[in-house]
Amino acid sequence: MENKKTKANDVESLFEQRLATNFTLIKDLFFSLYPENQHKKSFKRLLTTLPELFKNRPSSLKSMDIDRVKKGNWYMSQELVGMQLYVDHFNKDLKGLEKKLGYFEKLGVNFVHLMPITPRPKGENDGGYAVNSYHKVDPRYGTQEDLLSLTQKMRDKNMYLMLDFVANHTSDEYPWAKKAVAGDLKYQGYYHIYPDRTIPDEFETTLPEIFPMTSPGNFTYNAEMQKWVMTVFNPYQWDLDYSNPMVFIEMLGNLTKLADLGVDVVRLDALAFMWKKLGTESQNLPEAHTLISLFRMCLQVIAPGVVFLAEAIVAPKEIIKYFGSGRMMGNECEIAYNATLMALLWDAIATKKAVLLYKNIKSLPEKPKESTWINYIRCHDDIGLGFEDHHIHELGWNAVSHRKFLLDYYCQNIDWSPAKGHMFMYNPKTGDGRITGSAASLLGLEMALEQNDQAKIDQSIAKIIMMHAIILSYGGVPLIYAGDEIGTLNDYSYLEDNDKKEDGRWVNRPFQDWNTIAQIDSGNNHQTQIFLTLQHLIKLRKSYHAFADKNQVILYEAHNPHFFIYERPLGKNNGILVVCNFDEVPQTIYENALGTYGSENNVIDLISGEQPVFVNGTLKLDPYEILWLSKNNIE
Ligand code: GLC
Repeated sequence: MENKKTKANDVESLFEQRLATNFTLIKDLFFSLYPENQHKKSFKRLLTTLPELFKNRPSSLKSMDIDRVKKGNWYMSQELVGMQLYVDHFNKDLKGLEKKLGYFEKLGVNFVHLMPITPRPKGENDGGYAVNSYHKVDPRYGTQEDLLSLTQKMRDKNMYLMLDFVANHTSDEYPWAKKAVAGDLKYQGYYHIYPDRTIPDEFETTLPEIFPMTSPGNFTYNAEMQKWVMTVFNPYQWDLDYSNPMVFIEMLGNLTKLADLGVDVVRLDALAFMWKKLGTESQNLPEAHTLISLFRMCLQVIAPGVVFLAEAIVAPKEIIKYFGSGRMMGNECEIAYNATLMALLWDAIATKKAVLLYKNIKSLPEKPKESTWINYIRCHDDIGLGFEDHHIHELGWNAVSHRKFLLDYYCQNIDWSPAKGHMFMYNPKTGDGRITGSAASLLGLEMALEQNDQAKIDQSIAKIIMMHAIILSYGGVPLIYAGDEIGTLNDYSYLEDNDKKEDGRWVNRPFQDWNTIAQIDSGNNHQTQIFLTLQHLIKLRKSYHAFADKNQVILYEAHNPHFFIYERPLGKNNGILVVCNFDEVPQTIYENALGTYGSENNVIDLISGEQPVFVNGTLKLDPYEILWLSKNNIE
């Protein structure tokens, strides 16, 4: 009893300590967004809110917070391997998902991103990214008890959960939006709402369009209010106005309630858009960074075990800023999507060369030590070609034609391309377009199966495996899109669904094929081959400390444009060199390009378990072959 009490007191006093430590930064951040002379009262409100939110946090999670803080950066471990999924497309609902935890274990997945499970409008709702509540469970997925049971089971199995916090906007059915529509001025002040087109028109001169084909423009007229609402994404997604401090304080409450469900990583959706300013693109603004840091520091006080993922699919040099820079260094997001690597891997597949990949990665500053990436090849969204033109020019290529080539290659506009992707949101005004399609279909499997061409099937499988072996070995948490582990093809069934057919991203959000999975151990097909190889790679990843994201990735110059080579260093002899060939024909490389991972050190390829054969100082790799070379494995 005594012991329990002391523990509880400890937990409370640690809260006080955290508040005291972070107070100055929180105050500075708050008053730099909300000037002190006008907003002293709101700051007081924030200070009374923090202990209230802490009080409501379940005690088991409070203890977990403390364990995590003691343990340090759990999210950088090589033991983490993630999967992303839509609950209803995976196994119906949360109960169904709970039944499949064994499947994750079998593959080696222990970090799961569930796409939104919160209530949303009927009809179109952007896959749940239009939220009617931030912490309730939509009945189609089950109940809050189901979620709590799932999170408990996951914790028992040392699995981590990531859920979204759709911070930039609510749905038009969210209680605040409804009150705004009913004429409540307080809640109209929670959104960017204007009586006429004057300010919207001014905004439109600089705001880009996110969904130009389906939702052109950034404002929607609401007939009931007879006013214009800022809706950067879809008309039913209303952008919150964070220049109102009450929006921040109330959203902090929503964030904490979400965290209190047992979420380990909060994915901050569309966070680059959170601050709007006339005359700008209203993306990546310094105020957005201040705001995110303010959320971070407040959550640090309330729930320090919970980590932020930045969903900033923006230019490479902008993404890295979400780890925090300047006074916010290390005080923004711990994890960010490595959208740069993702987009450039697709560039390398199409060009069969890793040159643009090298150019971009080399130009980026090192990320802060306590931060890590989510490395992925596919997610639920489209693939944007978010790299910079000047790097393309520096290679002697024309940026406009290069981008056009990539869109043509992936979107079935080039005869010889094996990819079966689709164009998403092509904007004739700018010539920009994005790509949809499942990993397997983009990598040629769909076409190869249609043609029943075994050589092409094998080549596509090799590509699927190489791409995954890269995200499994590059520094960060690998995130596999559910279905990719068995090479799932494009799903065209969304075209039959009125609420989905306008959004081509559904083509790469397939249903999990449990019939095939039931045969996975005995099958003699591509699904089995991909699954078992990924299972093997995941097991390997977890057993090598070099794969933990404690060290930066070191790029090796290949002197052969088809190769991508990087080292995950660890001590003198415990590092791993990853070597891959992006060409469709075998390629050779001089041994000296491999540094100390050459023949004199008897290196072994961890994936095959064999020693590579060097011939006259060169090493040959098959098309799309990948090696994980280690110097330290000869028994
Ligand atoms: C993020 C999501 C995307 C959604 C958008 C608006 O980018 O990944 O699916 O459409 O935010 O919420």
